[in-house]
Amino acid sequence: MLAGRHILLIVGGGIAAFKSLDLLRRLRDQGAHVTPVLTKAGAEFVTPLSLSALAGSKVYQDLFDLTDEAEMGHIELSRAADLVVVAPATADLVAKMAGGLANDLASTLLLATDKRVLIVPAMNVRMWNHPATQRNLATLNGDGVLVTGPDEGVMACGEFGPGRMAEVPQIIAAIGAALSDGPLKGKHILVTSGPTHEPIDPVRYIANRSSGAQGTAIARALAGLGAEVTFITGPADVPPPDGVHVVHVQTAADMLAAVQAAKPAAAAVFAAAVADWRVANAGQSKIKKTATGLPHLEFAENTDILATVSQMGAGRPALVVGFAAETDDVIAHATAKRLRKGCDWIVANDVSPATGIMGGSENAVTLITDQGAESWPRMTKDAVAAQLAQRIAQAIT
Ligand SMILES: Cc1cc2nc3c(=O)[nH]c(=O)nc-3n(C[C@H](O)[C@H](O)[C@H](O)COP(=O)(O)O)c2cc1C
Repeated sequence: MLAGRHILLIVGGGIAAFKSLDLLRRLRDQGAHVTPVLTKAGAEFVTPLSLSALAGSKVYQDLFDLTDEAEMGHIELSRAADLVVVAPATADLVAKMAGGLANDLASTLLLATDKRVLIVPAMNVRMWNHPATQRNLATLNGDGVLVTGPDEGVMACGEFGPGRMAEVPQIIAAIGAALSDGPLKGKHILVTSGPTHEPIDPVRYIANRSSGAQGTAIARALAGLGAEVTFITGPADVPPPDGVHVVHVQTAADMLAAVQAAKPAAAAVFAAAVADWRVANAGQSKIKKTATGLPHLEFAENTDILATVSQMGAGRPALVVGFAAETDDVIAHATAKRLRKGCDWIVANDVSPATGIMGGSENAVTLITDQGAESWPRMTKDAVAAQLAQRIAQAIT
């Protein structure tokens, strides 16, 4: 998948820069052409000589280098590659990208490029968790920048938490997904996943049971076929897949807003377990136990995301796929749901506790279309996702 592809690899000034040497070597092993760009701080951690020897190419470092401008101007450099990868993406580079700064070669290339950008953040856990960094990442997410990692673990600085740069195989997988030439190349597909959390007060919430495993597998499979996936996820147990554009949400209202903002899309797969109701009189501060009795919660119905998108008329995705998690009369309920909501397909499954499907690694689904109900054998959630992604590709290409 990577053979013959051109990658512009920007190496920032982080302690994890040494991993970029291994990344570069493995990309070359797979036949990719890599042009390295090293920031001034990056050169404190790895030498230009190591990068250029491993890349078999010149290393670009300076915005105001007349020789470089004569050979290949910075605008051309930003566009000659198929993909721009920033690894490690420092807090500083993330901030520059979010702010649209262009005061050195790396940030100018990132602002001038017309290609997809994948960032691989690596930084101290406090830098990662800082509201400024999280704000900047949300901005980059909104700009369609792909993100892989960071991992959680012991860091070079001795602290523990998220911030460690993703391992090289994970980065290669994300690059592969971003460069995929599959049948869904150029198609934008929305996938929702995980539960929503509807607050009762600032510390309590109501939710559905959902690990997010099936939605995550579907997003990964669609990206593997070349789709540009916007993955809108509630607070799920499993981490989002690599190589997709991730939007994190909490409530059903947030999820609907994220779906609306992410349109247009060629297809939409609604695998999230969205709460049907929210608490209308949610407390602004923690509801206290009192001697006067139990709190009275009033419920309001959430807007039905599947029905809203299925019935939206202009701008409706060509294919809308809903999920029906049922505990009895699965096919009858799901068939009725398809007609009631107006979606094209329903993927129905029996989630009664005895099946072990909820939170497990396998699923047994029935695909309900206007042609009828088609029951698939029990298989892993990854296999269900792969089969569904193939069917989606057949339907919309
Ligand atoms: C020893 C050392 C390690 C550092 N590690 C990181 C790091 O892992 N992540 C990060 O975001 N910044 C790190 N920094 C800070 C960056 O090097 C600094 O913000 C620099 O301006 C980044 O420049 P650049 O984004 O142009 O590469 C480190 C600094 C030092 C001195």
